[in-house]
Amino acid sequence: MVKSYVNNPLIKAQHQDQEFTQDQIKEFAKCANDPMYFIEQYVKIVHLERGLVPFELYDFQKNMVKTFHENRFTICKVGRQSGKSVTVIAYLLWYLLFNESVSVAMLANKAATSRELLSRMQLAYENLPFWLQQGVGVWNKGSFELENGSKIISLLLLVPLPFEVVLLIWYFSMSLHSWRTT
Ligand SMILES: Nc1ncnc2c1ncn2[C@@H]1O[C@H](COP(=O)(O)OP(=O)(O)OP(=O)(O)O)[C@@H](O)[C@H]1O
Ligand SMILES: [Mg+2]
Repeated sequence: MVKSYVNNPLIKAQHQDQEFTQDQIKEFAKCANDPMYFIEQYVKIVHLERGLVPFELYDFQKNMVKTFHENRFTICKVGRQSGKSVTVIAYLLWYLLFNESVSVAMLANKAATSRELLSRMQLAYENLPFWLQQGVGVWNKGSFELENGSKIISLLLLVPLPFEVVLLIWYFSMSLHSWRTT
């Protein structure tokens, strides 16, 4: 019996023996190799009218994911409330799950903004089946850490700015890998 993390039946505890069916092994490999497939099959987002729904990417969101995946730096010019943040969050969820020992920092000029983004990722995580999840070591409102050594932290950017900004930095171990803005 795979145990769940303290007080949260939706996330898997660390160091559990996870059994996989043949189909799950194939599916796991497919997700690991293809972030777009993982997102469309397994990531859930909150639709403004329909509530929790599978994330069916719009074409421009597919382009964003492809660009993130194939390039070190990306700048996107996209309108307000079009679905930028969820796209970045979904890609980063894939990045944390299927890469070992990577760290992601989510920085915003308001603590509430970076925490809200983290909470959206946590909601998506809670809706993954256990066989796709990594066991969770730390899970709180400002960060979480996975059994594969990958972690994410939401931080306050201590620079006064006249507009709202979110910076996302992700890197392998200590070497800076990439940054994006949303
Ligand atoms: N492909 C999609 N299908 C259904 N709903 C979507 C899709 N993409 C985004 N949404 C929903 O649209 C809303 C806005 O998304 P999001 O917050 O990512 O936009 P944004 O461009 O980052 O907004 P802002 O400009 O305010 O930062 C959210 O409720 C999100 O779940
Ligand atoms: Mg946004």
